[in-house]
Amino acid sequence: VFAPDKTGLMMTVACPAAVVHWDATVEHFLSHGRETPVALAELLRADPDCLMGWCGKGFFALLLARRELHEVACSTLARAQLSMAMRGATAREALYVKALAEACKGRFVAAVAVLETVLAATPADSLAAKLSHALRFMLGDARGMRQSVERVLDRIGLDHPHIGYLLGCRAFTLEETGAFAEAERIGRRAIDRAPRDAWGLHAVSHVHEMTGRAKEGAAFLEANEGAIAHCNNFAVHVFWHLALFRLELGDRAATLALYDSRLRSEKTDDFRDFANAASLLVRLEIDGVVVGHRWDELADLAERRIDDRTLVFADLHYLMALLGAGRDEAAVKMIASFACRDRLSDQDRIAQAVGVGAAAAIEAFYHGRFAEAAVGLLEIRPALFEIGGSHAQRDVFEQILLEALVRADMAAQAGLLLRERLLRRRSNRFARDRLSKLERPMRNNARAANTHRPVPAIGKD
Ligand SMILES: [Fe+2]
Repeated sequence: VFAPDKTGLMMTVACPAAVVHWDATVEHFLSHGRETPVALAELLRADPDCLMGWCGKGFFALLLARRELHEVACSTLARAQLSMAMRGATAREALYVKALAEACKGRFVAAVAVLETVLAATPADSLAAKLSHALRFMLGDARGMRQSVERVLDRIGLDHPHIGYLLGCRAFTLEETGAFAEAERIGRRAIDRAPRDAWGLHAVSHVHEMTGRAKEGAAFLEANEGAIAHCNNFAVHVFWHLALFRLELGDRAATLALYDSRLRSEKTDDFRDFANAASLLVRLEIDGVVVGHRWDELADLAERRIDDRTLVFADLHYLMALLGAGRDEAAVKMIASFACRDRLSDQDRIAQAVGVGAAAAIEAFYHGRFAEAAVGLLEIRPALFEIGGSHAQRDVFEQILLEALVRADMAAQAGLLLRERLLRRRSNRFARDRLSKLERPMRNNARAANTHRPVPAIGKD
């Protein structure tokens, strides 16, 4: 039968009661809720041939960017295709199957184009809007993300049941395209409309990060912890933002405490959890903090992901862990894996265009070849957005670059980029510290260039 979902769009289901589970699935997904797979399982129990259910499951699996889940996504695609053959599909549902088929081939750009076709016909489809947003995020397409959600918001009313979540998406795209004041305003409006809109809350944190308001950012997150209580491991990412604020404020002990109690309390190998952790350890080490055994746990997981090759962004963070833990042999294998990709996916192209250079530069940095690291990172800097993630996430590469420039005594370039950073962020301890280092005579340079690790040797075990 055909039945309307909460947004008024018709879907093919075995019985109208199944739609309740679909609506719950979509709402949990929009709020980054941990109940998403629970609601989806209930839907597929109520209607084992639900095409939208299988398509949702396929996309959710692909967004987790793990080799083993690619197979899961392909089998959900087969179930969706079977459902379509058995009981037909609406035009919108057929497009979802087409989009999932593209995504399963690793062609996210093509999948996004199909989802945009869905949105052109049915702008009320908040799942299509969020999926387009999420896939574009993984492709580093900030401008496209913003245009997509703005087109949707232009065409739906304020009475749309997911308006808060869509405003949260818009807030994030505004932030990623540099419209900070507007991003903050819309982000706060999103949370007012949808108190569980963790993505909208997170957009405001990004504004705090990018505009150098660490103290305010930390206070804001602590005051709004309730907005992430329902979240899956997206909550961990929000605590990562809190840790960035603590580090910027110079509170290293609090940063490490957050790492232990929030970022790695569960030792998952989810790529987002992994990236949060590896990225924070690199930043701590650059700041001269001894992170001790923490790399080992991550490196054990990274060794198992050497041949994953699902997402360049994830692979680069696996590499950081291998280098951080001093596992040079595994790191060599990982670096080689960026260059030998033969499939024709978007990620293969990105690995060749950016991944190879980024990996080589990080390796050079971790082995004290700072000039080589700096030159390598400067070369790929204009294209780095292609690995996806946010400005704040990719900032770890910027911090490695800036530290490498300082350590390689490339003072003119270091000074220029650090002053630019300070101007952009208004307040930034990271840039201030390094600028004052540059202004001092570089008497420690020779010693620093000879150290094996990129950090001052403070008894790292
Ligand atoms: Fe973030």
